[in-house]
Amino acid sequence: MADTLTITDNRTGKQYQVPIADGAIRSTDLRQIKTGPDDFGLITYDPAFMNTAACRSRITYIDGDRGVLLYRGYPIEQLAEHSTYLETAYLILFGELPNQAQLSQWTNEITMHTMVHENIKKFMEGFTYDAHPMGVFVSTVGALSTFYPDGKQIFDEHARLRQIHRLIAKVPTIAAYAFRHSIGRPYVYPDNDLSFTGNFLNMLFKMTEVKYTPTKALERALDILFILHADHEQNCSTSAMRSIGSSHVDPYSALAGAAAALYGPLHGGANEAVLRMLKEIGSIDHVPGFIKRVKAGDGRLMGFGHRVYKSYDPRAKIIKRTADEVFEVTGRNPLLDIALELERIALEDEYFVTRKLYPNVDFYSGLIYQAMSFPVDMFAVLFAIARTVGWVAQWEEMLLDPEQKIARPRQIYIGSGPRDYVPMAKRQ
Ligand code: CMC
Repeated sequence: MADTLTITDNRTGKQYQVPIADGAIRSTDLRQIKTGPDDFGLITYDPAFMNTAACRSRITYIDGDRGVLLYRGYPIEQLAEHSTYLETAYLILFGELPNQAQLSQWTNEITMHTMVHENIKKFMEGFTYDAHPMGVFVSTVGALSTFYPDGKQIFDEHARLRQIHRLIAKVPTIAAYAFRHSIGRPYVYPDNDLSFTGNFLNMLFKMTEVKYTPTKALERALDILFILHADHEQNCSTSAMRSIGSSHVDPYSALAGAAAALYGPLHGGANEAVLRMLKEIGSIDHVPGFIKRVKAGDGRLMGFGHRVYKSYDPRAKIIKRTADEVFEVTGRNPLLDIALELERIALEDEYFVTRKLYPNVDFYSGLIYQAMSFPVDMFAVLFAIARTVGWVAQWEEMLLDPEQKIARPRQIYIGSGPRDYVPMAKRQ
């Protein structure tokens, strides 16, 4: 029969027809298959969601084998070349590229929401001088929910859009304050005459000059990096955003959770880990020894491998080109040679080739950020700024999807059976 899967239960000889749609079967269709009289029904076991789609989405498409990444159908290469971060953000959120009037209005909305409440500044001053900026970012974004109680109105379209404007506009300000805090410099207020990334550079690096003028090449490079990181379908942090948001909490709290997921070294913390790894390797001569240790299971080659891409990450290709343009302004990052040598050896090595481990987006992005004077601690924060639009777009799609409910995976219980409480005196 077309578009159905026939499952035969060998124990009973019973057959079940399970419909196939969009290349998937519904796990709940398996419930009709009982493993015993009291059984609730067959479930699937899929740790880390290796083979489970938890939503239907129209936002981002990835073909991991072919190295394809599309936002709303547009190839990432074309967006990186022709678009800006704010235009791409509009596309990701609303599904179409804006016309001139829509783009102007959108840019204006974001620009008008860049300031944060003065108490946010005071809140941030409470962190110790050496607090990791990502920890500061996660906490401060979470704290925003207390400043915007209308964030709870998640089913009011206008209120939802207001929070989306606020989040996209304020995350660079919070990130910049976190950075200035860590180096003991006064916070710089947003400059609304500048572009999204130009203003961000202003809030990070302005000193005593009356007006900060961003270097055009660096402003554009940062914009491209933000485009590349804007969304990546159901990754760890986005799944966290959807999962937390499915409880109908406000978007600030959900986004703090998503950013916390991004903080981990296997996700957004990877570019920080790449830089630390390159420093630790120290010179090209040490590369073969390092690769040998990785193959022996002593650590990972950070910036390599991806759950979805089993070929060169398309973002890594664009980043490699952008790196050359940045280094023309800033001078070459000496760690680049170690990175190139690691890549050369790894791409020829049987261990990496058979496992389809290629450079991912984070392999080169850290080198660019470092050349632009960002300390490594800031790398994940930069990722979080860019990914904010992906998180809020996926959150909104989840909220408006009539099929979605509160996220609640099942488990296979393997613990002890029922037993009686043991008083302290009788315990071993
Ligand atoms: N270095 C060495 N071996 C690796 C690496 C690596 N970077 N990545 C995977 N492997 C090996 C792994 O040991 C396993 O080998 P075996 O089959 O012998 O046990 C095999 O490759 C498959 O690995 P996996 O852990 O099952 O793959 P995964 O899909 O669960 O993990 C990953 C994906 C990105 C977490 C992983 O490749 C990794 O840890 N990479 C380094 C961290 C990194 O660069 N993360 C950034 C990801 S891109 C940005 C983002 O999305 O946040």
